[in-house]
Amino acid sequence: MLHSPVLLEESIDYLITNTSGKYIDATFGRGGHSKKILESISKDGRLLAIDKDLEAIRFAQKNFKEKNFSIKHAGFENLDMLCPSEEADGILFDFGLCSTHYDDSSRGFSFNEAGPLDMRIDTTQSKKLEDLFQDIDAQTLANIIFKYGEEKEARKISGAIIDSYKRGKILNTLDLAEIIKKTKTQSPKKIHPATKTFQALRIFLNDEINNLEIGLRKSKDLIKTGGRVVCISFHSLEDRSVKQTFAPKKISYPKEIPLNNRVIKDFKIVAKKIRPSIDELQRNKRSRSAIMRVFEKI
Ligand SMILES: C[S@@+](CC[C@H](N)C(=O)[O-])C[C@H]1O[C@@H](n2cnc3c(N)ncnc32)[C@H](O)[C@@H]1O
Repeated sequence: MLHSPVLLEESIDYLITNTSGKYIDATFGRGGHSKKILESISKDGRLLAIDKDLEAIRFAQKNFKEKNFSIKHAGFENLDMLCPSEEADGILFDFGLCSTHYDDSSRGFSFNEAGPLDMRIDTTQSKKLEDLFQDIDAQTLANIIFKYGEEKEARKISGAIIDSYKRGKILNTLDLAEIIKKTKTQSPKKIHPATKTFQALRIFLNDEINNLEIGLRKSKDLIKTGGRVVCISFHSLEDRSVKQTFAPKKISYPKEIPLNNRVIKDFKIVAKKIRPSIDELQRNKRSRSAIMRVFEKI
């Protein structure tokens, strides 16, 4: 099944301020947002899309033939290598994974089907989940599961994973999910017991929060005055980083310097905490945790 783009109409309405402008889709995925951007800009407008996942690049090369569209295999943490400063009219970030990542068990993100212990978004990266398990200790693993999954039973789960892995009992993602399920005492009804741990492992392995912060900081330089950055987050860690990156910066001087403290505000908030409509929530379960924020360079 194809990925359903989240907050599609709303995000593109906010993003496009000039139909002949230059736009960047920093997370192409299966191109749901890119398609809408191309429909909304004129022939003089341009769209550069990037993605870290080679499957997304292959999909774009096969299905997106428009002359004003280009796609690059890159991480948004390297955005500055792809676009000169102050050139973009709008940049869109739709963080996380596509549903296609979970549907293809061979990528190692699924807890419902057996897949390899992989979880790399960029398959040209060398370190897989299996490599992480080989050299990590229980305390470090517990910290990762707690920090990136906000999983209360992190310590217990980490101990069980390390122990089972050493005994050769975790050979694929389904084994891993079963160990977590058996270990947890509090099992939430709405989500699979392994959801938070899988999320944490994926975020850590792909260095997602760090990359997101670098990508957002770089996007601030690439945007023209009056241009917008649209961010769609799926969990609180992502949303917190988005808010902090665009918050006004306070500059405080030491007492001996006779200058007043200053606040530097280079972006204004155009929209905050936009959530999917009831209609979208009914159509697409994955949209339930989405939250969108929009910033404009001043
Ligand atoms: C939620 S999906 C985007 C879906 C897309 N908007 C659509 O409508 O099809 C997020 C995408 O971001 C990509 N991604 C994750 N981390 C990335 C990074 N650091 N740089 C570039 N792409 C990244 C993933 O591979 C995935 O395809």
